[in-house]
Amino acid sequence: MRVYISDLKDHVGKTVALKGWVYNHRSSGKIKFLLLRDGTGICQCVYFRGECDEAAFEGFEKLSQEAHVQVTGVVKAEPRSPGGYEISAQQLEILGTSVDYPISPKEHGPDFLLNNRHLWMRSKKQHAVIRVRARIVKAIRDFFDGRGFTLTDAPIFTPNACEGTSTLFQTKYFDEQAFLSQSGQLYMEATAAAFGKVYCFGPTFRAEKSKTRRHLIEFWMVEPEVAFNDLYDNMELAEQFVEYIVQTAVRECAEELKVLERNTDALTKVIAPFPRLHYKEAAEMILKENPAFINGDDFGAPDEAIVSSKFDKPVFVHHFPSAVKAFYMKEDPNEAGYSMSCDLLASEGYGEIIGGGQREDSYETLVRKIEEHKLNLKDFEWYLDLRKYGTFQHAGFGLGVERAVSWVCGIQHIRETIPFPRLYGRNYP
Ligand code: 4AD
Ligand code: MG
Repeated sequence: MRVYISDLKDHVGKTVALKGWVYNHRSSGKIKFLLLRDGTGICQCVYFRGECDEAAFEGFEKLSQEAHVQVTGVVKAEPRSPGGYEISAQQLEILGTSVDYPISPKEHGPDFLLNNRHLWMRSKKQHAVIRVRARIVKAIRDFFDGRGFTLTDAPIFTPNACEGTSTLFQTKYFDEQAFLSQSGQLYMEATAAAFGKVYCFGPTFRAEKSKTRRHLIEFWMVEPEVAFNDLYDNMELAEQFVEYIVQTAVRECAEELKVLERNTDALTKVIAPFPRLHYKEAAEMILKENPAFINGDDFGAPDEAIVSSKFDKPVFVHHFPSAVKAFYMKEDPNEAGYSMSCDLLASEGYGEIIGGGQREDSYETLVRKIEEHKLNLKDFEWYLDLRKYGTFQHAGFGLGVERAVSWVCGIQHIRETIPFPRLYGRNYP
């Protein structure tokens, strides 16, 4: 019977067939070891001369890294073996050869590895990161689905900007101009009025002409939006959400985080509530260590690191100056010039993972803001309707999935947190 390595525990003492790829192999006299990788795990297969098929013992010499093989043998519990089980192997069949596999255990440069991303993903650490990502994605859906949110995914082709016009990807929509979505938020504001608590979860696009550790051109964002919530309700939802996804990953991805050599002590402290700082307090903190910072500006990555280094949990910064935030942010009626916005900065210097806030709900103010931002009113008619027909207080946020995965995995560069990264200057493979 053919089984997966992850299911070996159910077959102890039985003869099974495993299919997989050669991860490693070595011989010493009368005994040969094959480390087999099948995507669900890695298993050691042991061939003893005299106990196994003689052809298998001889065939071993033809093995090469990443050849596709079938192993037949008896499952044994073996605590010292990776995964806890071992195969006392009898037969070996080569099903797909692999000649000169380009990725060897030696160090390769990032460009080489990215060019070979389709193969690189087979290696232990990359495999672990993508598994953590998959678990976090499930946790994201479980969190919102379990709290009465309705999934209302936003379109990817859009007629208008959401997050400023400088990072828009332009494309054609038949004879019209269109843009790839930078954020589903505006659409979530519409569905929030139809369903109350909503979220969308999909790819978003930013034409950022810069190479940083934290920016992708195409990234996944989950964006909840809640009718009647204000800025403070929004931060409460965000902190419960982040606690949930981080603790789920720590609990259920222990194996993967070990492969990544992630010390999880800092992650276990990610329990709500999180500290909250007014922009002015954060700016003061930054100025002490970075005198070049200009009060009123948005934060750069080093500024965020200064703020987050003061806390052992993620920290909210709220009330950014309206001037550095998008047109839809509500200005605080009690604090002219400051918006009811909030960013969440991850701990350990990982920086912003969430951006959001309370939305402008006055028709007149929104029209003025759209004009001030030099956006085309016509494209926003539908959005303005939401303020014409039963305008309502509402708030929401967006979490960048890859930023969250980088942080949880303790990875320095965001490019490893998505199966096929799109970076400035890279659209391959
Ligand atoms: O702060 P941002 O731009 O906020 C929005 O797009 C809002 N419309 C979301 C909302 O309120 N519904 O982006 C939100 C998050 C950031 O905090 C970051 O985690 C991630 O999206 N992000 C990126 N991740 C990777 N690469 C990029 N280029 C990113 N830009 C933003
Ligand atoms: Mg932001």
